[in-house]
Amino acid sequence: MKNIRWLLVLLTVLILSACTPGETDRHTEKDEAEEGNSAMVEGKKVQDYYLDSCSGCHSPDRRGATGPALLPGRLTEKDAYYHQVIKDGKPGTIMPPWGAQLNDGEIDTLIQFIRSDASASATKWSEKDIQDSLNIITPEKDLPDQPKQAMNLDNLLLVTEREAQSIAVIDGDHHKLLGKIQASYRAHGYVFHPTKPRWAYNMGRDGWVFKIDL
Ligand code: HEC
Repeated sequence: MKNIRWLLVLLTVLILSACTPGETDRHTEKDEAEEGNSAMVEGKKVQDYYLDSCSGCHSPDRRGATGPALLPGRLTEKDAYYHQVIKDGKPGTIMPPWGAQLNDGEIDTLIQFIRSDASASATKWSEKDIQDSLNIITPEKDLPDQPKQAMNLDNLLLVTEREAQSIAVIDGDHHKLLGKIQASYRAHGYVFHPTKPRWAYNMGRDGWVFKIDL
């Protein structure tokens, strides 16, 4: 198992328009002064934390997606209510609890953030930004022509290990762990190429798309 080397091609990026931690320098000081959101959550600027952890459901511009909009005009309840929802989640819905990783002060910082006006400049990505974020780990021409392992490509099980930021690959015929693949900060679901079974894609809630050579 040690000699298994997964070749990854990190292809393209940003389904919507999330920023990643490395892109924080995209925000100008003026933006930040306007946003008033230099506070930190889990060692990140609150807007970056929001983009990584919340925007997948509430959308990068906070106008809502599978989760409701988180904009000042809509948030008519008291802080204590939102504090509890963020801490404990909403049982029976997909709103997860964050109390295990965030302290009360960090939850309050997030509440202040969702009560602030959304800054368009913080969430906009141009096509060029997307192109520039492309990161090739192994060029496609250097990938092997034949599978490097004896396994049934049609029966691989890919398991997202979200907290570990990796993807476990399990041989579904023999129930053996074949290896682990680096994934994004908020790795999420998979898409498989419709005609070329060697390619799998993992999309993160933080907007990164990984193209994986199985
Ligand atoms: C997996 C999807 C998902 C993620 C990720 C998520 N939320 Fe939610 N959130 C929801 C859904 C769905 C609801 C609505 C639940 C309901 O039906 O009341 C919700 C509700 C809320 C509410 C209450 C809104 C209201 O008007 O009652 C707040 C506040 C909130 N989320 C904040 C956050 C924050 C902050 C984060 C990131 C730390 C986050 N959410 C991450 C799905 C998500």
